Amino acid sequence: MKLICSTLTAISLFSSQALGAPVYNTNSTEELQTAVSGDVFGWSHPTFPELYHTCNDTNVRMLNAALKDSVEVSAYAKQRLLKYGVDDVYYTRWFGNGSIFTVMGVFDQLVEASKNDLLLRCDDIDGLCAAHPDTYPGYHRTSAPSETVICDYFYTSKKPLSSICFDGSIVDVGPKHYAGIDLLHRYLHIAAMNQREVSELVEELNEIVAYAADNATYAVKNTDNYLHYMADVYSSSVVAGGCLGNLS
Ligand SMILES: *[C@@H]1O[C@H](CO)[C@@H](O)[C@H](O)[C@H]1NC(C)=O
Ligand SMILES: *[C@@H]1O[C@H](CO)[C@@H](O)[C@H](O)[C@H]1NC(C)=O
Ligand SMILES: *[C@@H]1O[C@H](CO)[C@@H](O)[C@H](O)[C@H]1NC(C)=O
Ligand SMILES: *[C@@H]1O[C@H](CO)[C@@H](O)[C@H](O)[C@H]1NC(C)=O
Repeated sequence: MKLICSTLTAISLFSSQALGAPVYNTNSTEELQTAVSGDVFGWSHPTFPELYHTCNDTNVRMLNAALKDSVEVSAYAKQRLLKYGVDDVYYTRWFGNGSIFTVMGVFDQLVEASKNDLLLRCDDIDGLCAAHPDTYPGYHRTSAPSETVICDYFYTSKKPLSSICFDGSIVDVGPKHYAGIDLLHRYLHIAAMNQREVSELVEELNEIVAYAADNATYAVKNTDNYLHYMADVYSSSVVAGGCLGNLS
């Protein structure tokens, strides 16, 4: 209960700041990001990728909302780790007996490590959005490995965290259905973020669950275990009973 109340306070404080922050041109995301880097629940110094000038005002507003969600959803994860530790059912469900130092370190890295070289761009520079208009929400640029392209399909398919549990269970829609969680997964494609230790080793639910159950060394190296943990913890924190769905 306390968790929920303090979050609401932090978030609503943050929103009023964000609303008051000027957004004059698409290249100056600093104003919004300064507001985000204020005292956000769970994190004192979140950092953000640069939004390239090819993102228009609407793209920037939607991406900033998603970035704010990424801070919020990871803050719940961090608080849960700190408060309940490795014996927590949420922890063992997704990380088994994997190292909490690794898990905590990954969340810290994702949210607060420097993102000076990270760029989100909206111009489909390599043409993969156009080639996959109904399936690619974005892509990591192999020719410019700190850059991520966000496709128009991102804005139509990804949902705000506030809608968690509305479209179906986490198992049904998948954690990347939520824009904030999807962006955290996109960070993990970047070497500066993943440190070549975390990647998409397996993405099928049964494999993710199996990692936690009997291969925890790999559960804590697998992107989707982190994404499921975040969605599971968040949904059960903000909606009574959560909406994980059936794991088997
Ligand atoms: C942002 O704008 C400034 C000048 O207004 C320009 O020098 C800089 O290259 C731009 N940055 C990006 C990422 O577009
Ligand atoms: C911004 O770009 C999107 C495509 O990403 C487009 O649908 C939208 O109309 C543009 N909005 C403005 C205000 O230019
Ligand atoms: C973690 O669990 C696995 C399988 O259940 C077991 O083989 C391994 O020894 C355990 N590791 C630690 C560090 O407890
Ligand atoms: C754990 O997963 C890794 C990578 O998928 C695999 O190589 C290894 O054999 C698995 N170990 C066990 C005990 O299943």
